[in-house]
Amino acid sequence: MKRVITYGTFDLLHYGHINLLRRAKALGDYLVVVLSSDEFNWREKHKKCYFTYEERKQLLEAIRYVDLVIPENNWEQKRSDVKEYHINTFVMGDDWEGKFDFLKEYCEVVYLERTPEISTTQIKKDLNSMEAKG
Ligand code: CTP
Repeated sequence: MKRVITYGTFDLLHYGHINLLRRAKALGDYLVVVLSSDEFNWREKHKKCYFTYEERKQLLEAIRYVDLVIPENNWEQKRSDVKEYHINTFVMGDDWEGKFDFLKEYCEVVYLERTPEISTTQIKKDLNSMEAKG
């Protein structure tokens, strides 16, 4: 069984996320999603999520490509996650290109092309400007 892992916040789940998860799962048989905790998001990325960790987790668990959701609490856990979950392939969108090449020592590292235009930040911006225009 080929095991794949990916990381992210997945707030306000959108089709860019679904595209990423579908292609990640297609690289193997079992997909682990490591979902940024609310604390990690705030502390390290200065991002406040619209949906809580538990809400984001439930949404991800309802997606057919996702087999397991576990929390991301720090930047350092990637090495131990890859070992603990017997991961063959580590996947990220290409906004992270090259950033996790150090994991090549332990598994295959793949950066997938991002879906153009859509992002959680963009959705928030668009909704804000709609609000402002009334
Ligand atoms: N992703 C993607 N295509 C998009 C948006 C995201 O492939 N249009 C991928 C990212 O590259 C990452 C995963 O989905 O591997 C989770 O991304 P995340 O940062 O949670 O989503 P974004 O929409 O990029 O959120 P933000 O705008 O807050 O950065």
